[in-house]
Amino acid sequence: MGVLTRSGSVCYLGVQVSGTIPPKATPLRPIFGSMGGLCLSELRKTLGPVFRVKAAGRESTYIASPSLINAIYKDPKNFQFLPIRQQFTQDVFGIPHEISFSKEILSEYFPSHTRVLSPKGIIPILNRYVSYAHQELHATLGSRWDTTVALKEALLIPAYNAAARTFLGPSFPAEKTYQDFNTFNNAFHIITAGVPRFLLPGPYRAWDRVVSHVKDHVSKLRERNEEVTELVAMTLDECERHRWLGDNPSAMLAADLWALEANAIWAVYWTIVYLLQSPHGIAPVVAEIDRARENWISTHPSIPLTASTFPQFLEDSMADFPLLTSCIHEVLRLTTSTFSIRRVSNQTEFAGFEFKEGDEIICTTRAVHVDEEIYEDPYQFKMDRFLDGQNKFQKDGKPVPNHLMPFGGGVSMCEGR
Ligand code: HEM
Repeated sequence: MGVLTRSGSVCYLGVQVSGTIPPKATPLRPIFGSMGGLCLSELRKTLGPVFRVKAAGRESTYIASPSLINAIYKDPKNFQFLPIRQQFTQDVFGIPHEISFSKEILSEYFPSHTRVLSPKGIIPILNRYVSYAHQELHATLGSRWDTTVALKEALLIPAYNAAARTFLGPSFPAEKTYQDFNTFNNAFHIITAGVPRFLLPGPYRAWDRVVSHVKDHVSKLRERNEEVTELVAMTLDECERHRWLGDNPSAMLAADLWALEANAIWAVYWTIVYLLQSPHGIAPVVAEIDRARENWISTHPSIPLTASTFPQFLEDSMADFPLLTSCIHEVLRLTTSTFSIRRVSNQTEFAGFEFKEGDEIICTTRAVHVDEEIYEDPYQFKMDRFLDGQNKFQKDGKPVPNHLMPFGGGVSMCEGR
């Protein structure tokens, strides 16, 4: 799963080397904050691109080179993501073992999920998102142009509400879940590190309340005669067919709410923050959008550009936003700290090291994103970094095709990308 860097990370600087297993970093001093990238660069310099780290009692192997990460992504038979997704479904989102590890979740539910978010399936969903985002921003900012509003309030809450309503339905009480969602999400890195449920009563109670809002919403959909969204319809249908009853359908939808909100709303926020802080501010991007709008209006003289035709404008004008696209890539490069995890399914040799079945491998895409050989001044935000040719991103004198991997890679690449 991807995590935008605002949560804790732990830094290790010591070294232990032994035989054919990757060198191990021993913890010297834990550092909390957004230092993950710096630490990883240090570790890669000291230990090489494959090293082991033990955190919260669990040892994982970190891979910090683009070519090795690519090799892992290309070998889903030996390096699997699905068992990790199943483990998360059970341990983090509380779906019982007999569902999380059922053969139906693998053969039916996950593939149906992929279909809902497929390039074709996502189009009506995206169009709805555009309208809801427009409505939410209007409701938050529309009447307040002459007052000062905290950027987080102005961006995160509308982005959260719009995404929640897009996927769960227009009557979903998104605003009632925002606080609890954050309480849970802020503890997510400790939860995934394996800290048991009883030590985190606050975050888990908050999550139970989110699930209960989803349950209440879903139970009232029929009596409200509201159109059921693609994701809700698919989930209810799968759960009914496999008799995954009780709280399970709502818990599964809430897990989706986590996946779709946890990173995306922060990407919106950081894009605006970095733009505002850059030397020319937001003006070059606004000018690009104005040009695209004028161009669209002149080529569609009979269609007024309104909230309802806005999705069409966006679809028609995709190629007209190179600077905005570059900004978004740059923000994802600079702020994501991805947990792209794979489990070793068979004993195997990789990069000169032995791995046994069950070993956990973490593709540290952030190490690639802040590699100074690939990116000049990697910790600086440069809005035009991705404007021209992708071949300029090189390492060891060769182009690095996978220089940007905020959504992971291979067959388990993020479905929401
Ligand atoms: C900026 C926003 C996002 C980022 C940075 C992000 C990042 C990631 C990453 C790194 C993975 C793991 C992929 C791998 O290990 O190769 C992942 C998986 C996933 N993401 Fe996202 N994600 C984002 C938004 C979304 C959204 C909006 C949705 C849903 C609409 C979503 C749904 C999923 C799902 C379902 C998976 C599991 C894929 C699988 O098992 O094959 N993500 N995401």
